[in-house]
Amino acid sequence: MAATWLSDAVFYEIYPQSFYDSNGDGIGDLNGIREKLDYIKSLGCNSLWINPCYDSPFKDAGYDVRDYRKVAARYGTNEDLIQLFNAAHEKGIRVLLDLVPGHTSEEHPWFLESKKAERNEYSDRYIWTDFWICGAQGMPYISGESERSGAYILNFFKCQPALNYGFLHRTEPWQLPANHPAAIATREALKDIMRFWLSRGCDGFRVDMADSLVKNDDADKSATSAVWRDIRRMLDLEFPEAVLVSEWGRPHQSLRAGFDADFYLDWRGNGYSTLLRDYENHAGEDHSYFKKDAGGSINRFLDDYLRLLDGAKGHGYVSLITGNHDTVRLRKTLEEAELKLVYAFLFTMPGVPFLYYGDEIGMRYLELPTKEGGYTRTGSRTPMQWSSGKNLGFSSSEPEKLYLPVDASDDAPTVAGQEGDPDSLLSTVRALLALRHREKDLQADAAFRAVCTEPDKPFVYRRGELTLALNPSGRTLSVTLPFDVSKALYQIGEAELDGRRLSVLPQSFAVLR
Ligand code: NOJ
Repeated sequence: MAATWLSDAVFYEIYPQSFYDSNGDGIGDLNGIREKLDYIKSLGCNSLWINPCYDSPFKDAGYDVRDYRKVAARYGTNEDLIQLFNAAHEKGIRVLLDLVPGHTSEEHPWFLESKKAERNEYSDRYIWTDFWICGAQGMPYISGESERSGAYILNFFKCQPALNYGFLHRTEPWQLPANHPAAIATREALKDIMRFWLSRGCDGFRVDMADSLVKNDDADKSATSAVWRDIRRMLDLEFPEAVLVSEWGRPHQSLRAGFDADFYLDWRGNGYSTLLRDYENHAGEDHSYFKKDAGGSINRFLDDYLRLLDGAKGHGYVSLITGNHDTVRLRKTLEEAELKLVYAFLFTMPGVPFLYYGDEIGMRYLELPTKEGGYTRTGSRTPMQWSSGKNLGFSSSEPEKLYLPVDASDDAPTVAGQEGDPDSLLSTVRALLALRHREKDLQADAAFRAVCTEPDKPFVYRRGELTLALNPSGRTLSVTLPFDVSKALYQIGEAELDGRRLSVLPQSFAVLR
């Protein structure tokens, strides 16, 4: 069962490189995050997810961890992170770190030991074949780079050797079972890393590639799930309020394995992608539901989402995201008016929502060369745009020293530019999240029911006792409701009520009691 504090949680994801640079070296840091906690709170976000901030060679932006127990010098010190936990807690904000359990950097001391020809404590910490010319049964591998005669399996990039949690279906002698002492030792080492940060004030973890642990697992991920259940037992005993959010994308599996929430990931062609990034599914043609007059249907989302929601029922939450450090920013294809409706929808749905830094002001996707293994993701990782000042208020460094360039356009959106404007995207996000915190029926646990999903009508849905109506199109859409509603609690654009006849004007949204 999910930790109770999640029922009203709204997360803010921070890519630490790019949030706020407090010491003028051109890259964001932990003290910078601490300085901006009041801003985060003002949005209505009461929880943070910080991308990996550990020591790393940064070939995959920190998802290649060299030391799980040490904050990367560029972000500060362990003491700074502990101070951030404390300061956040004082303001009622929880903090999740990013846990990378499936692989380390190729520079991690465990791997350096594992590469050695002589057997040692870490020889089986990673997955090695048993002869230098022996490949890895369809898995990506590297050979010819170690004294050790064997090839090692990769979990993602070349710099990320896979940690060894064993195999379920074993076809080769070098594939250890998941209950082998070496596989158990990897799991215990992971628990110790979790204990290390939880005992210093961290509130839990977003877990990277959480489904990737045991290899040759079955489709149900039964063996990987067993590893997580064992970890969850440890948490229940030692840190019962700790939260785990999985990058898994199959809540019927992950939540039963002990995760509190699972992301509805941006997988090409799934329901979530049809809402926002449907151009990726049709070779450039955009039929996204939220794209004004693009002819998208909410049913393509619902068919998939309702299945996920059903699989999650009673076990935890499905997390909807505005975006993340791996996705293209929504502003690439959606206008501000469209984004307001996107957020109105995402922040009034069940589960635990995540807002990616900068999405609240509609930061753009920038076309940039790759940085730290970002490739096409780099354009979604640029510095936060605080004001019209130097480097848009992100850093006092010289522009050429910035981690990534800031949006150079004249109309680059900024926090300061939107702050006083009640119609701005920023103000809309604040209003929506304030409403969510006020109305229990808009929070994680309240029931969801689709009421009208017909074409040429507004999409009408219920959350608990509230009725919500959404019209992303450029025409007024009307529907006769099967029940009475009285007053509108909140509106974007306009909705008119005549008895049970509800008309939602172009690009409008309403929450009705
Ligand atoms: C998923 C993370 O979100 C992504 O940024 C990273 O590159 C891979 N996992 C590998 O850790």
